[in-house]
Amino acid sequence: MSELPTRRSRRLRQSAILRRQVAETRLHPASFVLPLFVVPGRGVANPIKSMPGHSQLSVDELIPVVKEAASVGVGGVILFGIPADKDEVGSGAWDPNGPVPEAIRAIKDEVEDITVWADVCMCEYTSHGHCGVLKGDSVDNDETLPLLARASNAYAEAGADVIAPSDMMDGRVAAIRDGLDEAGYTELAICSYSAKYASAYYGPFRDAAESAPAFGDRRTHQMDPPNVREALVEVSLDLAEGADMVMVKPAGPYLDVISAVRSRVDVPVVAYQVSGEFSMIEAAAANGWVDGERVMLESLTAIARAGAGITLTYFATRAARALAEV
Ligand code: PBG
Ligand code: ZN
Repeated sequence: MSELPTRRSRRLRQSAILRRQVAETRLHPASFVLPLFVVPGRGVANPIKSMPGHSQLSVDELIPVVKEAASVGVGGVILFGIPADKDEVGSGAWDPNGPVPEAIRAIKDEVEDITVWADVCMCEYTSHGHCGVLKGDSVDNDETLPLLARASNAYAEAGADVIAPSDMMDGRVAAIRDGLDEAGYTELAICSYSAKYASAYYGPFRDAAESAPAFGDRRTHQMDPPNVREALVEVSLDLAEGADMVMVKPAGPYLDVISAVRSRVDVPVVAYQVSGEFSMIEAAAANGWVDGERVMLESLTAIARAGAGITLTYFATRAARALAEV
């Protein structure tokens, strides 16, 4: 008898319901945020080739997509704009009639129970595709800050629930916070993309947002992939500047970073499962090489297990629906 193991881990794995009861991590649709790409015009829905199921949408086409997400309990959408015209300084970013402010107003008017996050960066709006104004071949940090603040105020004015700067300029959270406070938006939350890496996983997004840099790359402002301690410095700086939530991006290949940030801070930790993560899963699933539905939920579970309380994911609506079926 004594040769039998006294502890048998298999006992708690005997049925689906028992496994669900002892699960340490639970996914919930309210923790998902769906990224959407907004274009000018009406009746526009341009499928994004590298991101099956996703399209650039004009505001009227976007509304049913947001309604569908809300109907399955998705917690939020994050908006990226593709303006009609681009210029050197990206002035379309603060146009009150640009696609993003227009979409924010329409969602706030027509959809209940979903938060609207506004991504803030200049790269969709500049003719050169860089995340700020250029001095020579390099992004000028301090000249870019007021532009980011100006864009943030335009999204605040339109009714955004969360301002999410993704540009990775130093001091941007403070500049945006000041701008919002001065305009009276003291209650509006900032989720900073604090640990945003210079990642090759953003490939499909740059097609979707038409935001690829015309020359060079983003390595002088986005983080270098080998570093995790530096992510903690970025997070501390952003919190000191007034960030209400902090983000790690990408998510799946950076679970150690999510975990390190989670153990260090008590504000919500947000992760972004980026376009390349989504497209790789979709491509493998389309080839029949993996079970796409299972990898979708497993990848989101891993991100939550690492410590993310909120996940930006292109699977948001699909995953919410899948969870409703469990
Ligand atoms: C803009 C921005 C990018 C993403 C979110 N905001 C692209 C980039 O930095 O080049 C990537 C999102 C994704 O890949 O899904 N700064
Ligand atoms: Zn950018």
